[in-house]
Amino acid sequence: DLGEYRHFMLKEIYEQPAAIQNTLSGRVDLENVRDCISGNPQKLAQVFDEIKEVQIIACGTSFHSGLTAKYWIESLTDLPCQVEVASEYRYRRQPKRDGVLVVTISQSGETADTLAALEKVKSESYLATLTICNVPESSLTRESDFALMTVAGPEIGVASTKAFTTQLVALQLLTIALMQRDSANAEKATVMLNNLKRLPALIEQSLQKDASIKAMSEAFIDKHHSLFLGRGELYPIAMEGALKLKEISYIHAEAYPAGELKHGPLALVDADMPIVAVAPNTRLLEKLKSNLEEVRSRGGVLYLFADENADIAEQENIHIIRVPEMPESLVPIVYTIPLQLLSYHVAVFKGTDVDKPRNLAKSVTVE
Ligand code: M6R
Repeated sequence: DLGEYRHFMLKEIYEQPAAIQNTLSGRVDLENVRDCISGNPQKLAQVFDEIKEVQIIACGTSFHSGLTAKYWIESLTDLPCQVEVASEYRYRRQPKRDGVLVVTISQSGETADTLAALEKVKSESYLATLTICNVPESSLTRESDFALMTVAGPEIGVASTKAFTTQLVALQLLTIALMQRDSANAEKATVMLNNLKRLPALIEQSLQKDASIKAMSEAFIDKHHSLFLGRGELYPIAMEGALKLKEISYIHAEAYPAGELKHGPLALVDADMPIVAVAPNTRLLEKLKSNLEEVRSRGGVLYLFADENADIAEQENIHIIRVPEMPESLVPIVYTIPLQLLSYHVAVFKGTDVDKPRNLAKSVTVE
């Protein structure tokens, strides 16, 4: 039922505060956050003692949430974390490694490549398999040792929105659970848990930018190419923003880590290629600003999503949507929302079939 909404995608974008609240519910107050993972608790305790590294496997949007988690896990724990798309992982030889926790991520739990990659893992040596999934009775949930469920509710729109942000929440809970293996991290883990409680309200606030994002999106209607830039853990968010735009508006969109600009893509920059950048007030902002200047001085038009306190001003060819200041751990999750809205409005202006984009299926159950 669409209710007051014109499309399922928009409804699902607006459901994110509730979907995130449901995914956090009963979990942020746990003493051991790993208790929100279902499966044999004794085995889980043993696995947590033995993890030496994390291998994430997923496709599409779920792959992007995995890439974001790599930044979290490697900056907050001592565990190395690899992330790979399932269609590559399943056909490739991997060197034998000990103590690997294999994490699959999937909204549907039925994606053929992700399931096949899991089967491959199980025929080799691994410590345990954990799935982050939105469908309790799915194949991935059944086939994995452990599950950390997202509680997004059914997602109808082909373009994944609330499944992605709830995956990020689940991955942050997993990161915190991994941090809690070391008592030296206890305080930081508690701060992160408390920060997560602020997330639904922060998402509500970013949804209030909808009208200004809609106005901004008009500039994209007649464009054929676009570039999405981010740095650090905002790079996978830029990738997800680019995927959303190409998927529903059919505008070619490519994401780059901003530092790579001058190694090639800068040659593409002109007034006909809008450049979207996610520019929160993190330690990488100054570096990003100099990348943006590289673009502007070549006639590029910039569309920025920036912190309301960031030292960066609107000027000719720089359009800015301000996002509230927030703890750094929440930034990738909240900055996803304006990018979803941008793609949505561009697609609606262009008149595409937003909920069922051409050539795509909601769940890719064949290879
Ligand atoms: O159900 P899954 O999360 O395993 O699906 C993986 C991808 O097919 C999916 O995320 C796809 O990229 C989205 N429709 C993009 O919006």
